[in-house]
Amino acid sequence: MHKSMADYILGIESSCDDTSAAVIADGVLLSNVIASQQVHKDFGGVVPELASRAHEKNIVPVVSEALKRAGISARELTAIAFTRGPGLLGSLLVGTSFAKALSLSLDIPLVMVNHLQGHVLAGFIRQPDVPVREPSFPYLCLLVSGGNSQIVRVNGPLSYEILGQTIDDAVGEAFDKCSKMLGLGYPGGPVIDRLARQGNPERFHFAKPNIPGLDYSFSGVKTSLLYFVRDQMAQDPDFLEKNKEDLCASFQKTLIDVLMGKLIRAAKETRIREITIGGGVSANSGLRERIVAEGEKRHWNTYLPEFKFTTDNAAMIAIAGWFQYKAGIRTPLDVAPVSRLADF
Ligand code: KG4
Repeated sequence: MHKSMADYILGIESSCDDTSAAVIADGVLLSNVIASQQVHKDFGGVVPELASRAHEKNIVPVVSEALKRAGISARELTAIAFTRGPGLLGSLLVGTSFAKALSLSLDIPLVMVNHLQGHVLAGFIRQPDVPVREPSFPYLCLLVSGGNSQIVRVNGPLSYEILGQTIDDAVGEAFDKCSKMLGLGYPGGPVIDRLARQGNPERFHFAKPNIPGLDYSFSGVKTSLLYFVRDQMAQDPDFLEKNKEDLCASFQKTLIDVLMGKLIRAAKETRIREITIGGGVSANSGLRERIVAEGEKRHWNTYLPEFKFTTDNAAMIAIAGWFQYKAGIRTPLDVAPVSRLADF
């Protein structure tokens, strides 16, 4: 392909604590640079004000690096896609303002992307020299992260509906809060995942939510673990230390059971067998194994995108922007970021 023939889309993502920029050429990924913020580790969670400041520091070098790795100059860009929301408002403001300024100075179109849309379309990121395997429409995406727990029905690149979502905590939050409670650190998901591999998932049982329809709830499971550990510690102060692995394995299994229960139901109700997964929690090894196993049993076509495309990244924003760009969608320069999904 001749270089100048391609449409180059720059994607910018800054909704939470990762500053990311990516370049795609006609849907093929050329670069995807992610600067993860380390400043939040000591606080046991993302501190919004610190996140905004880190984005301000990172955005210029991250975009420059993405262009450099793609081997193009800013002047060759066709359009700029950016995350408008949902997310932390201060963080989103940095990416949005940068995207607007660049669009104005280069005189190229701006395309806003809903972060959620980026996650559900991550399976369409093509990479040079990697065989293409993409879900066909309609498909279901289990979107599980620190901010979301949803089952999304994707009818086409620009058409999707949320079939169910959490009414309280996101599943990633449940991992993080329980890890903090057990003194295992932040972010909790990877630690619990690792310890769970050495434990017995059937040893302890925690209360599962009973929520109608396809919605989720995770705050009860968290409380159930909290009370259980508190009661056991009253009898044996070493209980936690002695049973960490089994506690993690049993807790993780409960969360996976809850996630899978509604996903299976959604697949049955919609008769859709194309299943994808997205968001930080989709890195969980237990969840991945279970989706594959259920998929084999139920004759689903399952798609587990590479880990680097399931957590926050600009490649998915660029691809979602590319679909919109091709459909003729453009965003005016007076666009403002939004923190909540409902405000889209
Ligand atoms: O998508 P993501 O990077 O950003 C946010 O939505 O914030 O997701 C982060 C979440 C955190 O809650 C983290 O604990 C969780 O994903 N996570 C995991 C694993 N790796 C990250 N949860 C379970 N198992 C993992 N291996």
